[in-house]
Amino acid sequence: MSDLPRTIAIDGPAASGKSTLAKRLAEELDYLYFDTGVMYRAVTWIALSQGISMDEEELITQVSQKVRIDVQPPSKDDGRGYDVFADGDDITWEIRRPEVEANVSVVSAYAGVREALTLQQRRIGMRGQVVMVGRDIGTVVLPDAELKIYLDASVEERARRRYEESMARGESITLESILEALRKRDQIDSTRDVAPLCAAEDAVIIDSDGLSIEGVLEKSIALARAKRHLPE
Ligand code: CDP
Repeated sequence: MSDLPRTIAIDGPAASGKSTLAKRLAEELDYLYFDTGVMYRAVTWIALSQGISMDEEELITQVSQKVRIDVQPPSKDDGRGYDVFADGDDITWEIRRPEVEANVSVVSAYAGVREALTLQQRRIGMRGQVVMVGRDIGTVVLPDAELKIYLDASVEERARRRYEESMARGESITLESILEALRKRDQIDSTRDVAPLCAAEDAVIIDSDGLSIEGVLEKSIALARAKRHLPE
C-alpha cells in the first residue's frame, strides 16, 4: 500500500502552469490526472454552439445538468493531452477556442453549474490516487485532500506562457489581448460569490515566476513524498 497522499489538489489562476504540473506529477506517481477546467469549458462551448446567450443562467445550468462529459486518454497524435467528449462528440480543441476562453468565467460563476460539476468531480476524487486541478479543489471540491498546492505566477508571465501556446497552435492573437483576457478572468474568478479562487488555509503556495516546470515538479514531488514521514 502506498503511503503517498491519496488525493492531491492543485489550484491557481489561469495559465499558472497547473495543468502541466499536474500531468507530470500524475505520471510520476502513477495517479489519474483530472483537469476540472475542462468541464467548465465544455459547458461553455455547448452553450455557445447552441446559440444560448451567456446571461441565460437557467438554460446554461440545464446544459450542465444534462451533458455527459467524458475525459479519455488521447486517441490522436495532434498535441492533445487527452480526449474530451460531450455526449459522445469530440470537443477537445473546441474548448480551447478564444470565445470559450472569453466566456468560461461567466459560466463558471453560476451556482447551479458549479453544483452540477462539483458533484461529478467529487465522485472522481473519492476514488483516490488522483491529482485534481482547478480553482476550488482544495477549498470546496476536496477539502480533505492530503496535499494541496496553490500554484501562482505573475499575470505577465502567465500571459507570455498562454501566448506561446497559442502561437504553437498557429492562432493569430496578440500578447496584449491575452493579457487583458487573463486579467478579466482573474477578476471574475477571484471575486465571484460561489467558490472563488483562493488558496486553502492548508495549501502550500508555490510561485512559479522564474521557476522551470522541472523546478516546480521537483518541489511538488518532494512535498508528496514528505507526507510519508508525517505521523498518522
Ligand atoms: O487552463 P486555464 O487555467 O486557463 O483555465 P482552466 O483551468 O481550463 O479553467 C477555465 C475556467 O474555468 C477558469 O477561468 C474558471 O472560471 C473555471 N474553473 C472553475 O471555476 N473551477 C474549477 N475548479 C476549474 C475551472
